Amino acid sequence: MVLDNTSSIIQPDYDRKAELIAFDETKTGVKGLVDTGITKIPRIFLIPLDENIKSSDQPLLPKPIPPTIDLNGINEDPTRRKEVIEKVKDALESWGFFQIVNHGIPESMLEDMKKGVIGFHEQDSDVKKEWYTRDGQCKVVYNSNFDLYAAPVTNWRDTLLCSMAPNPPQPEELPPPCRDIWPEYSSRVLKLGGCLLELISEVLGLHPNHLLEMGCAEGLAVLGHYYPSCPQPELAIGTPNHTDSSFITVLQQDHVGGLQVFYQNRWIDVPPIPGALVVNVGDLLQLITNDKFVSPQHRVLANKNGPRVSVASFFSTNKIPTLKVFEPIQELLSEANPAKYRGTTVKEYADYYSAKGLDGTSPLLHFKI
Ligand code: OGA
Ligand code: NI
Repeated sequence: MVLDNTSSIIQPDYDRKAELIAFDETKTGVKGLVDTGITKIPRIFLIPLDENIKSSDQPLLPKPIPPTIDLNGINEDPTRRKEVIEKVKDALESWGFFQIVNHGIPESMLEDMKKGVIGFHEQDSDVKKEWYTRDGQCKVVYNSNFDLYAAPVTNWRDTLLCSMAPNPPQPEELPPPCRDIWPEYSSRVLKLGGCLLELISEVLGLHPNHLLEMGCAEGLAVLGHYYPSCPQPELAIGTPNHTDSSFITVLQQDHVGGLQVFYQNRWIDVPPIPGALVVNVGDLLQLITNDKFVSPQHRVLANKNGPRVSVASFFSTNKIPTLKVFEPIQELLSEANPAKYRGTTVKEYADYYSAKGLDGTSPLLHFKI
């Protein structure tokens, strides 16, 4: 995507708040707008000309590709496990972002999950509207732009969020297109997350159960994102640059593409690999590892070849009130490496994250000592 100076967007003064409210009140999100047949995007979605978008345009430099790690055999073969731990270590220390294959979740289940997300977002809008809310205490939340009123730019994306652990919804609390597959998929992702957190504990030189015992896999929120086809993709953004507030995130993306990670000062495409899952470090893992692992910035470009669907599974208890305080792990600290962050509860972190919105700055700064 190229934006040169001549396409710099100068926005006239307008009542942005009123337009956001009008958009919110439709309760049909970006898909609702696209369904009306618009050919120009409304101004609430216009991105300012920004360095980040420009920096993806460096065609002459060869681009690295985020690593892909094969998890086959890690629970059966100790030599294999050691090899994988080394690969995870390298990936975490350099990218904070990698893809995994042979992760144990069958491709048919990934497909069914994608169908569930499409089924929800493409159902009759009067039925879908019933699920629309901004109440963070609900276990099932459908809306467009969780940070609609805080973020500087509205994103070309609608989302269904279901909070699946520690208190999963009853099946009848889930929308019918998701009722069967969401709980099934979530239990597989929880198991996979447990495996990953064991590997990550070992990378840190801790007992394999360390991160699990801390409670890093107690909470799971599974989000079904829907990025409708965008008539002017170069003027909008699917998800702006951000880091995740989770301990770790396990992401399924479809074949459309557009996911990018910021690596060595450049935006790098994360190519869709059929059957693979993307794993990334979240802010809370960065906090407890005292910056040993860094939560990478990533984003999703808007696309004409939509809709694009993704399923993001965040390991976090999110807004559920819990008392547990997370702080840099004692075993990783020393006189030369004192704690860089104060302790926080996951709820405090999540509340701060969503009140701030995706504005391009790291919420971790607020928790620095
Ligand atoms: C997220 C995210 C990427 C995608 O939900 O935090 O980065 O591909 N999603 O939708
Ligand atoms: Ni993300």
